Amino acid sequence: MSNVKAALAVIKQMAPAFNADVALVLGSGMGGVVDAISEAIHINYADLPGFPRPTVEGHGGKLVLGRIGAVSVAVMQGRAHYYEHGRSDLMAEPLEVLRELGAGQLILTNAAGSLLAEATPGNLMLITDHISLFGPNPLIGYHGADRFVDMNVPYDPEIGAGLHHTAAELGVPLFEGTYAWCTGPSFETPAEIRALRVMGADAVGMSTVPENILARRLGFRVAAISNITNLAAGMSKTALSHEQTLEMAKEGSANLIRILLRYFAQAR
Ligand code: HPA
Repeated sequence: MSNVKAALAVIKQMAPAFNADVALVLGSGMGGVVDAISEAIHINYADLPGFPRPTVEGHGGKLVLGRIGAVSVAVMQGRAHYYEHGRSDLMAEPLEVLRELGAGQLILTNAAGSLLAEATPGNLMLITDHISLFGPNPLIGYHGADRFVDMNVPYDPEIGAGLHHTAAELGVPLFEGTYAWCTGPSFETPAEIRALRVMGADAVGMSTVPENILARRLGFRVAAISNITNLAAGMSKTALSHEQTLEMAKEGSANLIRILLRYFAQAR
């Protein structure tokens, strides 16, 4: 049996009637979303064939199924990063499982560095486009015409508009811009950030882009929000570290959670 079928069988056993509307991937420090899920069923990744084994502190390892308001959500608390294993396709099977559960929308969250002086730590940025030139495309090795994914509109404008609307209602500033995927795990150098700025990047991070590409192939409508945890390298005197990312993620995650909960509460 394929990993996807085997994972679906485990899910069907634990949550026989569950059907997802929206899938959500939580980034560093975003675990708090899970507390707002009602009728929650928690399944450890360890019990789901093909799901990642997170090695990064701050990334739980659970799939949580339940409801937020009227919306049925499947939440991945923790993701796989390219830098953990050297494979950019590690989220392929989990995303297929989420799609099989019925999810049509995928909302990705991440922690990121900002290249915009005005988007300071604690702020949020809606990702409207991305730069994926520094790591391998997750679809390398796939066969079939559907590997040639159209990337003209990588992030869904309607979901983005909805998230902007919700943020405005809450009075939470929501920047928007282009996210550059760098493989990590070392942070970028100041020269790399200057180069990325010339290329058009507004934020930089180590995730999300491979998932976006895999999800677009599967037909998901994708939205993504960065939780800005620092100004990018060379823009401030603060030394960058994972501890700093986790600490600063707490600031923005409270607002990101508010936006997501209200967005879901108003959906449908
Ligand atoms: N660079 C890359 N990834 C990140 C950063 C950064 O500055 N901050 C949080 N994740």
